[in-house]
Amino acid sequence: MPRNCGSAALRSLPCGPLPDSSRASATLTIVGDVHRWWRAADAAHLERQRPDLALFVGDLGDEDLEIVQRILAVQVKKAVLLGNHDAWQSFGRRTATEKLTAILDALGDDHLAYRVREVPAAGVSVVGARPFSWGGPSLRSPELYDEIYGIRTGKQSAAAIVDAARHAQHRDLVILAHNMPLGLGDATTDICGKDFGKPGGDWGDRDLALAIQRIEGMGLRVRAVVAGHMHHKLVHPRGGERTRFVRRGGTLFVNAAYVPRVRTSPEGGEESYFVRMQWRAGECLAVEELWVDVDGNVRSATPARFVDLAGEAPVVDETHDEPAGG
Ligand SMILES: [Fe+2]
Ligand SMILES: [Fe+2]
Repeated sequence: MPRNCGSAALRSLPCGPLPDSSRASATLTIVGDVHRWWRAADAAHLERQRPDLALFVGDLGDEDLEIVQRILAVQVKKAVLLGNHDAWQSFGRRTATEKLTAILDALGDDHLAYRVREVPAAGVSVVGARPFSWGGPSLRSPELYDEIYGIRTGKQSAAAIVDAARHAQHRDLVILAHNMPLGLGDATTDICGKDFGKPGGDWGDRDLALAIQRIEGMGLRVRAVVAGHMHHKLVHPRGGERTRFVRRGGTLFVNAAYVPRVRTSPEGGEESYFVRMQWRAGECLAVEELWVDVDGNVRSATPARFVDLAGEAPVVDETHDEPAGG
């Protein structure tokens, strides 16, 4: 019998260490918002573990080429989806700065925005959503998206995500995003609930929710959405923590934004945070939260505790016109 995560709702998802018979499984290792917290030990960990793909959800730094180059130097297969911080100055100027252009050039095909990457060993295709998301209803700078991707509206962005999914070679998809889709709850403690400013409200991305609706309508299965952006520690209520692992139907939603991702362990040593997923034939077998020590060794691996969302995804209005950007 597979081990369960403690949640009665997760009966079909074993989350504990895998038995020996599961050696044929593939590993996707997720790195949440980096915000410059990147150690030599993190590179050593990835290079030693050799995941089938390392997924970076963005916010590597504040439009910071040096941190991007450090991550690119890690000898591991990787896919990156840049966050709002990675284009911070460009959003201010509503045009790509030289630095953002250099970052995008350096990343090349490893930046998965509106692209697909195959992971045959896992039986999944990884589809990249819209980069640089700030969350909420606005794209912030349609000018910047137009300049880089030829996109000015959320609807065009959704269409570009769907287009990437159309090129997927597998029926089972993992979506890599910076922010979660709309429709996962509006409490501050929810996986993408707004906890700042006037707290409360769903801060998810409408374009991603619309894209998922269409992708599933095409008969593809979105097995997981991997994102960050909404940090684990809440502004309101101060000191509170957000739910970061949610399951609805056959889709897992994993928010890897434990920020800062480096902490002092209960024993006094320094350790950093990763999320590790095991996959086989398009199915997620296990999700674990890892703490990695200064030598790059795993100090602890804890099965993620998923909260089950009842019902189906709220229907996204195809005719909705979002604000043109703030
Ligand atoms: Fe962040
Ligand atoms: Fe962010």
